Amino acid sequence: MLEQIKQIKHNFEQQFKEVKTLSEIQVLKKEYLGKDSPLITILKSMRDADEQTKQEIGKQANLLLVEIANQLNELSETLNNEILNEQLKGERIDVSLPGMNLKFGSKHPLNLVIDEISQIFTEIGFEMVDGTEVEQDEFNFQKLNLPKDHPARDMQDTFYLDEESVLRTHCTNMTSRLLTQLAEQRTDNQNLAAISYGNVYRRDDDDATHSHQFMQIDGFAVGEKISFANLKWVLKHMVKRLFNEKVNIRLRPSFFPFTEPSVEVDISCFKCAGVGCGLCKNSGWIEILGAGMINQQVMELNGLDPNKVTGLAFGIGIERIAMLKFGINNIRLFYENNVEFLTQFPFYGK
Ligand code: DAH
Repeated sequence: MLEQIKQIKHNFEQQFKEVKTLSEIQVLKKEYLGKDSPLITILKSMRDADEQTKQEIGKQANLLLVEIANQLNELSETLNNEILNEQLKGERIDVSLPGMNLKFGSKHPLNLVIDEISQIFTEIGFEMVDGTEVEQDEFNFQKLNLPKDHPARDMQDTFYLDEESVLRTHCTNMTSRLLTQLAEQRTDNQNLAAISYGNVYRRDDDDATHSHQFMQIDGFAVGEKISFANLKWVLKHMVKRLFNEKVNIRLRPSFFPFTEPSVEVDISCFKCAGVGCGLCKNSGWIEILGAGMINQQVMELNGLDPNKVTGLAFGIGIERIAMLKFGINNIRLFYENNVEFLTQFPFYGK
């Protein structure tokens, strides 16, 4: 058998010298390493052989098997590399061809409005704070003077997650969270002005101007002598910056459980300067937000003393502002991610 092994080795070496292609390697693999190859047959016969034969013959056969496998693998690697190099040579990059067009993204119109309003308020000393979209009933309602089962809750048809948590219906939740925090700090300095923005949720039938998920910016300022005059100034300042210098505001009495008095804020039409046009439905005025002085009851509910601190507050629907500013007539356009729509706003504000 040793003789046979030698012969196999000799034959392999002769044939190996001649190999030039990957398919020839495959043929040799089958012939020398395949399950019917002479080497494998010898190895199989070792199963029943005595120890000495296993040591002498089996070992030699195994060594040769490994050697053949290594040689064939190395050669196939070399050939593969050669093929790849040939391919790369043929694929030289033609630098004279025109390049691919790079597409620039642009900010979403809702983000443009958020950026602008945030800028206006941070400039006059408001902090920006983040809030959570899943909120406790306590902060979304109870501490804002909307007790459980109170009919005023009907104004905000709510997605309840369980008895105690909801998808927040407004960003005013941050007012009660921050007022509570302020009260817990128990410092003498009880001045705070903050805005918060984000998604809010209400069960609503979606149409051109309503969506069950939309965005708000909500803000408030509390301190020792915050007055209704301050509220008027803040609102006026904001709309003049947001639309144009000539825009004025009109306040109409309204109702929100967390503010007293409460107002609905209209702006004089920025398109026709109050003369009357399609945008303001010939009234000269456009309704844009809700506001008021923080209800004393809310101060108490959050642990603050209404005899010491007063506060102003306002809540703005971001989609509504964006629709007005950009002349968009369907709220769904904001959520569809249609590139043709989104790329209409790339240079706004630059
Ligand atoms: N949270 C109210 C809403 O979503 C809007 C609002 C009104 C917010 C008056 C305020 C406010 O902070 O003072 O309908």
